Amino acid sequence: MSHTSEAPLNRITIPMLQQWKQEGRRMAMTTAYDAVTARIADSVVDILLVGDSVGNVCLGFDNTLPVSMAMMNHHVDAVARTKPRALLVADMPFLSFHLSPEDTIRNAGGFLQRGADAVKLEGGAKRIEMVRALVHCEIPVMGHLGLTPQSVNVMGGFKVQGRKADDALRLLDDAYRLQEAGCFALVLEGIPAELAARATEVLTIPTIGIGAGPACSGQVLVFHDVLGLTKGHRPKFVRAYADGFHVLHEALSRWAADVRNSVFPTAQESYQLPEGLSDAIASWTPATPT
Ligand code: KIV
Repeated sequence: MSHTSEAPLNRITIPMLQQWKQEGRRMAMTTAYDAVTARIADSVVDILLVGDSVGNVCLGFDNTLPVSMAMMNHHVDAVARTKPRALLVADMPFLSFHLSPEDTIRNAGGFLQRGADAVKLEGGAKRIEMVRALVHCEIPVMGHLGLTPQSVNVMGGFKVQGRKADDALRLLDDAYRLQEAGCFALVLEGIPAELAARATEVLTIPTIGIGAGPACSGQVLVFHDVLGLTKGHRPKFVRAYADGFHVLHEALSRWAADVRNSVFPTAQESYQLPEGLSDAIASWTPATPT
């Protein structure tokens, strides 16, 4: 039996990431929500995450809680169709991995059938049973600890976690348990740098930080944040590498001005009729109604 695939040969795989952790080679991950963002990011990063942050970044929600499996499937499909070279991770939305192992396996397995390579889910000890169930079904899982946005109501806002002794120790314990349950990597979000450094030191799997200091095995930032496409409050861990919002706004404004001033489109940007048809359409008049 032959296994055929149109995917590029040099795809990033989970064993590669494990190897990079051992070698101390850093990894870059960003979000992709559609084919355009996936194509821009794919040649740059090692891991593409179809994050449930699509809810607040693209769909206008205040947080990620309203994001459903149907919404995620729509975005995973769009990204997967680009057949990325980067490892493609699909985020399990709120309530998609809480109800039962069966429900969790069906949701996560569906992501893999749509072309994702792995899933990510938020939470520690409470989610170990679901992580084990997925790993048992050959579904690779990336964990996510610290400031987990789906717990916004429990946390009382988007607040840095692990600043108290018992919280910090629980996080280390959760990180270790997720690794032992079979997670292949862990996102550490919104925690003190020293805590992320200690987790990275004690774990054999890679840690991917966001607002977790420089010691993690890799870093993740939302695509729109890296490119300065988002407006409003910018957390201190976000470094924008372009003023994308203004660059795009300015380009669009020039186009709209050209339209209003009849400068766009030119004859070169238009289609011409074949020879001889001009006279025919010039002499056409509407038929008189009978
Ligand atoms: O949904 C998301 O974009 C995320 C990352 C920020 C880690 O979970």
